[in-house]
Amino acid sequence: MHGSALGTIAWTFCIEIEIGVCYKGSRVVWEFGGTPEEGETVEPSFAQESGWVADALIAARLEQRAMLHLLLKKRILQPEEYLETLAELVSDDYQFSVRRFVAESEAALRNGRWHIGGDAATEHLGNRLGLERGDRVLDIGCGIGGPARQLAETFGCTVVGIDHRIERIVEAVLRTSALGLTRSVSFQVGEAGHLPFESHSFDAVVSQATLHWLPDKDGCIREVYRVLKPSGRFGFECEAATEKALWTGGFPELESGLFRILAWQQLLGASGFTDIEIEEMWEESRAFYPTGPEREQIDRGERVNVRIVCRKL
Ligand SMILES: C[S@@+](CC[C@H](N)C(=O)[O-])C[C@H]1O[C@@H](n2cnc3c(N)ncnc32)[C@H](O)[C@@H]1O
Repeated sequence: MHGSALGTIAWTFCIEIEIGVCYKGSRVVWEFGGTPEEGETVEPSFAQESGWVADALIAARLEQRAMLHLLLKKRILQPEEYLETLAELVSDDYQFSVRRFVAESEAALRNGRWHIGGDAATEHLGNRLGLERGDRVLDIGCGIGGPARQLAETFGCTVVGIDHRIERIVEAVLRTSALGLTRSVSFQVGEAGHLPFESHSFDAVVSQATLHWLPDKDGCIREVYRVLKPSGRFGFECEAATEKALWTGGFPELESGLFRILAWQQLLGASGFTDIEIEEMWEESRAFYPTGPEREQIDRGERVNVRIVCRKL
């Protein structure tokens, strides 16, 4: 009961913002979301709870942004002050600071990504998967949504992005809504190992700069297989250790999760994927790490970002 009330109000709020009428919505959302009625037993699931928090955060941020818009429109704020204040409103805990993107340009707002190879890599991945207009695509670990928006705009597909960090989903939704792309790109909070989707519901699954972080890679790959339609395509890019890393020693990430390229191949094969193709992205990896320990590992040929595409049987 709580969930649906909150969802409806948050949605109503968004529509009001779109036509620029009012910004009262989030107060109502907090009241509905915060206190269970007396005597009521509420046992929300993690997914419900995080969904509510995301809704409330989105509403609160929209409210703040709407107020700033109003101040700008009434010329109480100058454009530079507006941008500056807007940037301060949003969390800049994300590695590639929102402040920079908001203040720069619409292109930067549209972008919003953090992976090796930049937008060229995302386009390449989409091409390798043969994405087409009408395809339904899932992006695992979508961050603030740059790649999801790019794929939708470039290939005409619809993209659903999931990420387990609520504040990233909030930022992804805000950016996508600001760019008018919500019909083709949507986001939700979700865990890579427990995809909140029905079986056989996607034509393709993509992921960039995420899978190497996962402690349970097998669980995620099983879930990807489940949600893909028969013959559905899976393409991802992530960092990996090469065979050379086997005898170098001193490669702590091997224990903490970085997979060898061969291990990815074996896992995908054992999970039922076929037509597995692997590209090693040496040049892009060097450009991403100009210096530092990762660069030294790359230069020794021990570590590289890989692009892997395959197909469900
Ligand atoms: C380096 S960022 C890449 C974001 C995006 N794919 C891009 O290329 O801009 C990795 C993202 O994976 C998300 N992530 C990490 N572990 C996750 C998990 N278990 N389930 C869902 N998302 C996860 C992080 O929150 C983060 O936003």
